[in-house]
Amino acid sequence: MGGGAEMSLVPSQEQALIAAAFAAAEHAYAPYSDYPVGAALLFDDGAILTGCNIENASYGLALCAETVAVAKALGGGRRGGLVAVAVVGLKADSQPITPCGRCRQVLNEVAALGATDPLVLCVSKDDVRRVALSALLPHAFGPSHLG
Ligand code: THU
Repeated sequence: MGGGAEMSLVPSQEQALIAAAFAAAEHAYAPYSDYPVGAALLFDDGAILTGCNIENASYGLALCAETVAVAKALGGGRRGGLVAVAVVGLKADSQPITPCGRCRQVLNEVAALGATDPLVLCVSKDDVRRVALSALLPHAFGPSHLG
């Protein structure tokens, strides 16, 4: 397993990933929660794919930013190579956002396909917390369980 806790990004890479997540959050469609979120995924070829949360008048149908980003990745043909993830919440004065439980599982699918343990940057306006996906989702259920 590569990445995750034993891996850190160089500062310029980290800044670029966080900037991409902030830019993605600007496109958030979050009129019901007023909680805009952006996510950015960094792959081992240097590509960054982003997503934002997309809510719905039927509230329970909201899509999280990380899930939208993962849909772009898998839908674009990527199968692994996930090195790092940045998740940002734009709500002023809020603590750094951590991926919800469903998003942890969704991120784990891409990570498991490439046997990486991505570093997750949990970001607020003035704070960054760095944690491995495996720490956010220990003993994860993944593709290998299905044989
Ligand atoms: N949200 C995300 O986009 N990602 C998460 O990991 C947590 C929550 C979104 C869903 C909803 O649109 C808003 O934040 C408030 O829950």
